[in-house]
Amino acid sequence: MKTALTVAVIALTCALGAAVSQERTAAPAGAAPAGAAASAARFPSYDPRYPPPPGTPPAQVFRLSQDFPKTYAADTFPWEKIDFKAFPNEYLRSVLNYCLEGNVDVDFRVQDNPVRKWYHAPWLHDDGAQFGGGREWRRGMTRERMSRPFELHTKQTGRGQNWAVGFYNDRGGVGLGKVWLTADGRPDPSKSTFPPNTVACKLLFTDAPVEQVPYLRNGKVWTANIYPDTNYDKPRVDREMRLLQLDVAVKDPRLARSTGWVFGTFVYDGGSPGKTVWDRMSPVGLSWGDDQAVRTDAQRNGVFVNTALTQTRINSFLVEQPGWDYGDRAYVRHHGLGGRVNGPIDSPVSSCVSCHGRAGTFANAADPVNRGRPMAMAVFSASKPSEYPMDKFDEFFKPIPDGAHVETQDGSQFMTTDYSLQVTGGIRNYYQNLRSQPVAPVAAEAGRATRNLKATVPVDLSNAPALPRVDRDAD
Ligand code: HEC
Repeated sequence: MKTALTVAVIALTCALGAAVSQERTAAPAGAAPAGAAASAARFPSYDPRYPPPPGTPPAQVFRLSQDFPKTYAADTFPWEKIDFKAFPNEYLRSVLNYCLEGNVDVDFRVQDNPVRKWYHAPWLHDDGAQFGGGREWRRGMTRERMSRPFELHTKQTGRGQNWAVGFYNDRGGVGLGKVWLTADGRPDPSKSTFPPNTVACKLLFTDAPVEQVPYLRNGKVWTANIYPDTNYDKPRVDREMRLLQLDVAVKDPRLARSTGWVFGTFVYDGGSPGKTVWDRMSPVGLSWGDDQAVRTDAQRNGVFVNTALTQTRINSFLVEQPGWDYGDRAYVRHHGLGGRVNGPIDSPVSSCVSCHGRAGTFANAADPVNRGRPMAMAVFSASKPSEYPMDKFDEFFKPIPDGAHVETQDGSQFMTTDYSLQVTGGIRNYYQNLRSQPVAPVAAEAGRATRNLKATVPVDLSNAPALPRVDRDAD
């Protein structure tokens, strides 16, 4: 029995190996346009199921920034001098300015940034036919949690479709390269320890109209190739989207012996007096830990400042005052669980640090059925804090150290990916995609060549249930 199992696993390994090399030799749909450097085409840029119409000028098509550097220079960063606990707004503003510098002028074609290059995480282009939330071809955005009616504003009667694109600075690019540019072509999560002062930024856009969310007025508009509505079942179309939220994550060396990261977020405030769109980004808050000991108000719905929290800083001026006429000024209607930091499009039963801390991928490489399976990130069965199962609180709000290491969840071991859900998600998509490759015939060939007939019986995963998607929520 043991021998047969070993053989089956070896057969699968060969089959997957063959599928990987096939995939790399055949130019993948969605790759960089002809003429780009060979290394630039290693990972596809967008979902090949939804390509741009023929004749679209290459300048209008998203290109994945994947020329990952091997090293990074010594450098200093403006936020290093700012105490994020005492001056959270100043800290957030300095990180935001860094994210914007050079990127605004190239409209976030981040590899063209003349000041410093930024990089995209591979394998977010294809999360499987059943989900269809892979990178769209105009901006490289992936589908995010939708906004339920009234989540964003009292006038919001419909559901808002949300899509986002994130990018890492060169230090993050070094980390991405270690994970993805491996000798055998498979991602190596154990390499996903990001260097100090890695920064990730993410722009989140919504198709909710200005009439329903007045503070989106006069903001940044992108056309994206997305679904006509939140049923996500019709062909993708071009739609106007507006910048709603901007997330940042900084691997701050001051947190080296704890979570390692500061997470912060902004909401766009179209009614505020700032001169540019970027001046009108209003900081919602930041957090570097989940205050596992604090249960106060954990099941309280709505928006409030929880003064029991010690590892969270919230801007109280954005907290909705019921009955107040805001006009086109921004406000927030919820944060995360118990007042922990989360953004307007995020789930009210989680938090930035909670969800990202659980960035992890199944650790046992010899178990083909579970390869690529992500760690559970949150209790999505609760749609509001009053429904939150408090017996799960410790599991999802206990602090997770930074850096790649093994964590146990529900009896399984997971390799954490240093708070990067784009790494965990990419690995999930990579293995999900391999399941639909024609591995069986390839394995049969390998078996014949070695005269090992048992090896012609590969583990067929083509009918296995899809791996859980790495998303901000179940839908
Ligand atoms: C319920 C889960 C969840 C919560 C809560 C959440 N995120 Fe994420 N986040 C994700 C997922 C999933 C991705 C990767 C998917 C993608 O980018 O397409 C991601 C990606 C990111 C990225 C890109 C780099 C990376 O780490 O993968 C940043 C930066 C980020 N989130 C910041 C934040 C901030 C700041 C908050 C809180 C305001 C937050 N996130 C809350 C799930 C979550």
